[in-house]
Amino acid sequence: MIALSPTEQPTMPLARRQFLQSGAAAAVVAFLSEGCALSHAADGRLGFTAVPATLRDAVTVPPEYEAQVLYPWGTPTGIARQPMPAFAPDGGNSADEQALQAGMHHDGMHFFPLAAPGRALLVMNHEYTDEQLLHSDGVKEWKAQKVRKSLHAMGVSVIEVQWTREGWRQVRPSPYARRVHGRTPIRIAGPAAGTPLMRTAANPAGDEVLGTFANCAMGVTPWGTYLTCEENFHGYFGGPKEAAKDMTPAQRRYGTVPGSQWVEYWRFEGRFDLSRHPNEAHRFGWVVEIDPFDPTAKPIKRTALGRCCHESATPSLAPDGRLAIYTGDDKAFEYIYKYVSRDRVDTTNRAANASLLDDGVLHVARFNADGTGEWLPLVHGQRGLTAERGFRDQAEVLVKTRMAADVVGATKMDRPEWIGVNEATREVVVTLTNNAGRGAPGRPPPDAANPRANNLTGHIIRWREANDDPTAVAFRWDILALAGDPAASDASLKGTFAGDAFANPDGVRFDPSGRLWVMTDVSPTRLNKGAFERFGNNQLLVVDPGSGAFRRFLTGPVGCEITGLVFTPDGRTAFVNIQHPGEIGGESNDPENPRAHSNWPDYRADGRPRSATVVIQRNDGSAI
Ligand code: FEO
Ligand code: CA
Ligand code: CA
Ligand code: CA
Repeated sequence: MIALSPTEQPTMPLARRQFLQSGAAAAVVAFLSEGCALSHAADGRLGFTAVPATLRDAVTVPPEYEAQVLYPWGTPTGIARQPMPAFAPDGGNSADEQALQAGMHHDGMHFFPLAAPGRALLVMNHEYTDEQLLHSDGVKEWKAQKVRKSLHAMGVSVIEVQWTREGWRQVRPSPYARRVHGRTPIRIAGPAAGTPLMRTAANPAGDEVLGTFANCAMGVTPWGTYLTCEENFHGYFGGPKEAAKDMTPAQRRYGTVPGSQWVEYWRFEGRFDLSRHPNEAHRFGWVVEIDPFDPTAKPIKRTALGRCCHESATPSLAPDGRLAIYTGDDKAFEYIYKYVSRDRVDTTNRAANASLLDDGVLHVARFNADGTGEWLPLVHGQRGLTAERGFRDQAEVLVKTRMAADVVGATKMDRPEWIGVNEATREVVVTLTNNAGRGAPGRPPPDAANPRANNLTGHIIRWREANDDPTAVAFRWDILALAGDPAASDASLKGTFAGDAFANPDGVRFDPSGRLWVMTDVSPTRLNKGAFERFGNNQLLVVDPGSGAFRRFLTGPVGCEITGLVFTPDGRTAFVNIQHPGEIGGESNDPENPRAHSNWPDYRADGRPRSATVVIQRNDGSAI
């Protein structure tokens, strides 16, 4: 049974809904001042009324909170001295206009306070495109302009935001505002830069590439730069089907095989044709460092962190000043990695950290059945990473990170997504979103860290490093929860935790008070169907520090995933991204009927669903 939330109606105009919510806010404040217990008794220290699972086409938050849309796809980004093209609800913006607007499919995000009070930068990823919504007539016919628009719709947005009496607002224009997209020049640094595997016809030096795309989750360095992670880059490379037979084992392992592409870029931009420019794909699948405070600074791909479908890059500062960065490879049976810098972070001189992400050692995790774990270094010449095994040098170890991890005997995981570090305790959590192939014929069987065959709903692992030192090579781990429904009887659906049912954990974030928040991404092929109907639309939950129970805080519109959660340092505002509303059933949207599944957030008769950043605050202005 799916109940409707008591908050706003999905078709009501925003202004009217906000008015109604402020009315509710006044009532809540009065209620609080009478000293009544506001929360559900089981919510321990959380202080909110958990929301039910729902199939509504709206963002639903507890009645004690308000959610406002801030920055949907197509919003002018406000780059100083550049035009501010308005969003065309029919998808009619040009490629050049898209390069000056919010990208599609918002994902990982961070909030960087500026020196001026109440001002900050919001920096976010745009993971992928829905070509059927991006162009007025979809992609029945591809054109060069559509390839350019598509590349411009991914990457990163940097916007300035300001606290006003009406809440957080975008500052336009802003000297900081910037789009980094699929055609932005980016420097390549670290051990693989300039090596033969990175050289192309367009860049014989192998040290610069056009663009970053497939930007999933993120990280932030102690010196205030943003790390954007290139995840499913392989789907953008293609070529004539006949060329597939010539692909190497490494190309197959990375999924860069002609004929399997998701888009037809290769027909219009030669660099995406694997049969002609095989090295171009080696220049994607990296972690990219961006300085959000300097819009003229060239982003840098940091090859020392390895090449894979990077989900997130989560730093943890060691007591001795060195930096560890955790990153997972989100593909079934791939691995979890940790980079450890050689040098110490310089907290007094930002520029002194320029090569901190180039000089260091990448490790990969092995989870032993007894609850111990090891970080295995991926260093050329060690543990079988030699020329005889296919690795000429450290550059080749990094370009073929997945194959190097095979050689050293790491643990194959159930799709690692975000990794979160509790700053106070240095406890680390990772989500494993699902892996229906585990235990299938010819595939790895369940193991201690990935205990389910046919892992439909995913799980969450946590670990602590030896001596709580992020640079340690040994750790202890356990399973925080197998996701699912605690009330289910079927083992593949049964959640092993107390609280509200959820499936397919993806994003995780510790808030300023150390509470763990979990975002879900049930795939559009399973969402709201069969046994998955019980989970409703994708959702955001928080773990109650008192009881350990998972409590549902927010549900998104139809067909979306929830991602990007970040808090202001004072804990009073949360920003969260609603990605791909309307993507449901595993089928492409219909450009003739773009509102078939969702019309969030505009609910316009002539509009289309748009990914967007949403601002959440408590009605009484206190911490979330
Ligand atoms: Fe981009 Fe693995 O989610
Ligand atoms: Ca994700
Ligand atoms: Ca997703
Ligand atoms: Ca996901």
